Amino acid sequence: MRQHIQLVLCAAGAAVVTAGAASLYAQAAQGGEPLWAYAYATQPKPGDKAAPQAAPNRNLRPNEDAAEQQKPRTVPGSGAQYSLVDVRDGHNVIDWFPGDHPAMPPIIKNGPASMGAVARGCGSCHLPNAKGRPENAPPAGQPVAYTVQTLRDFAAGMRLSADPRKANTPTMSGLAKAMSEDEIKQAAEYFAAIPWSKWIRVVEADKIPEAKLEQGGMYIIEGKEATEPLGNRIVEAPEDDFQANTVRNPRSGFVAYVPKGSLEKGRQLVLNGGGRTIACGTCHGPTLQGIVNIPAIAGRSPSYMMRQLWDMKVGARKGPMTQLMKPVVANLTQDDLTNIVAFLASMNPPTAATTTSSR
Ligand code: HEC
Ligand code: HEC
Repeated sequence: MRQHIQLVLCAAGAAVVTAGAASLYAQAAQGGEPLWAYAYATQPKPGDKAAPQAAPNRNLRPNEDAAEQQKPRTVPGSGAQYSLVDVRDGHNVIDWFPGDHPAMPPIIKNGPASMGAVARGCGSCHLPNAKGRPENAPPAGQPVAYTVQTLRDFAAGMRLSADPRKANTPTMSGLAKAMSEDEIKQAAEYFAAIPWSKWIRVVEADKIPEAKLEQGGMYIIEGKEATEPLGNRIVEAPEDDFQANTVRNPRSGFVAYVPKGSLEKGRQLVLNGGGRTIACGTCHGPTLQGIVNIPAIAGRSPSYMMRQLWDMKVGARKGPMTQLMKPVVANLTQDDLTNIVAFLASMNPPTAATTTSSR
């Protein structure tokens, strides 16, 4: 019996390694992954692996000052108070603005019940308003059927990251695997109940203020003057690092610097296909706000969107419905995809009246 189990485990391990190597090969053939979207400075190498993320906890880290970590903090417009220990306690998601979203069910606040104390609430990474951050995803406003289907794909190992170093994608798969059918349904209904609204400010630029890259995380704007050449990247960063990262204020949005000219080039491809792809509205609905089990793609994180298009292109994302996207991305170059996600991010949804971007 034990021998049999080992064989099964080995077989599963081998399948995962092969999938990783195949997608690395596919990326090399395309000139390498779009590093800005995965937030790495160098291309992944064969054998690279993500170290599992630490379970959520309330422990102080080495060299941390207890008083500083435990003192109550506030954010503008909220009556709540949380310490930095509360802010990072992924098993008890903090809620600066309970009025901005429906009451969080236990799956969103505490995570899958089957994982006990090491469970992470969905709101810890995706924020209680589900608008997400560049390094994860924006599930707010997605159709219920789409979220249910994609959570099943995560659970079945069909949504890997093309970058094997990206640690939060395997965490996401583990959570999806641990979810009950009821929890999947509750999470999908919660996300669908929050209408999408403007969250990303898109700016075309040749040069941007100096930006620091947090490996596998996101860019942080550090400079004041626009001195750093943008090139053909998109740099997506918090409008306010302290609000977005230190106290996780879910009303503090993001800015995306996109290459000059990318919006018009992206518009042609998205609206007409530009002779190289299929107009996106054919499947994603006329305003690109999603329909039945096809996701909304307008006004959302360009880093997330780029990773998904790339993951689909190189075969790291490969659920049953992903097949419909294969011909869409097949003939698009990395620059085409950059132009597309720049334009998509700039499309403000019809529900933009409830904007919560901080600036
Ligand atoms: C550790 C952070 C983290 C937590 C906690 C987390 N997620 Fe995610 N989630 C991610 C990341 C990262 C991605 C995108 C993966 C990628 O880009 O490779 C993602 C993607 C998703 C998507 C895909 C959205 C789309 O448009 O296709 C859904 C749905 C989702 N998560 C639901 C959940 C649910 C439900 C929970 C709670 C049980 C949860 N997540 C908890 C990190 C997290
Ligand atoms: C033939 C139908 C079809 C067309 C045309 C199409 N899509 Fe899709 N798209 C889908 C489906 C179905 C999915 C969900 C895939 C899955 O579940 O893995 C999807 C998913 C996506 C996603 C992932 C979203 C997320 O939240 O993870 C992005 C990004 C995307 N499409 C962009 C585009 C763009 C850009 C175009 C136009 C250039 C386009 N699609 C055209 C059917 C289509």
